[in-house]
Amino acid sequence: MDQNARDLEILLDAGRIEARVRELASQISNDYRGLTPHLVGVLKGAWVFMADLIRQLSVDASVDFLGIQSYGPNTNSSGEVKITKDLDVSIAGRHVLVVEDILDTGHTYHYLEGVLAAHHPASLRLVTLLDKTSRRVIPVRANYVGFEIPNVFVVGYGLDYNQMYRRLPDVRILALAPSS
Ligand code: XMP
Ligand code: MG
Repeated sequence: MDQNARDLEILLDAGRIEARVRELASQISNDYRGLTPHLVGVLKGAWVFMADLIRQLSVDASVDFLGIQSYGPNTNSSGEVKITKDLDVSIAGRHVLVVEDILDTGHTYHYLEGVLAAHHPASLRLVTLLDKTSRRVIPVRANYVGFEIPNVFVVGYGLDYNQMYRRLPDVRILALAPSS
């Protein structure tokens, strides 16, 4: 699949994303007033979103990253999750806010939630830029959602297809996702 990036239909343009990220940051800043949330970004898709989000926060926040692989080189969820980079610092007693690019079947976050909760954070919440609610297999919910999107495979703003398209400032539609 070697579609030219400019031929891909825009689902969310950069301006809309920026405005929504500002709203999410304001809501998160209010909810964590007086606290220092510990942002845990899920690599690699979430780092562009996280970089924009943290710059709009009005509370201080510390940062760590977790590397996971939930998909092979194709677009189908295997339901298998592998940790490729562990956290650098302990989250015990911290107000952890996991930052995800997209919630799809729910397999990934369901697994992560279990792993993180076992380390006894003071609180554990999830912010996801995108949410494909219609694809959910496991009933996980994000505390903060940027956009609910239909069942299409999207790229750009950090999200990739075989490592391509992460650089795009808009979220674009790559192809229709399989119906399963
Ligand atoms: P699950 O199904 O575990 O999936 O909730 C979450 C992870 O799947 C990837 N994913 C996508 N990546 N465009 C992408 O670039 C998409 O449309 C898409 N849908 C799911 C993503 O890595 C996410 O963290
Ligand atoms: Mg991801």
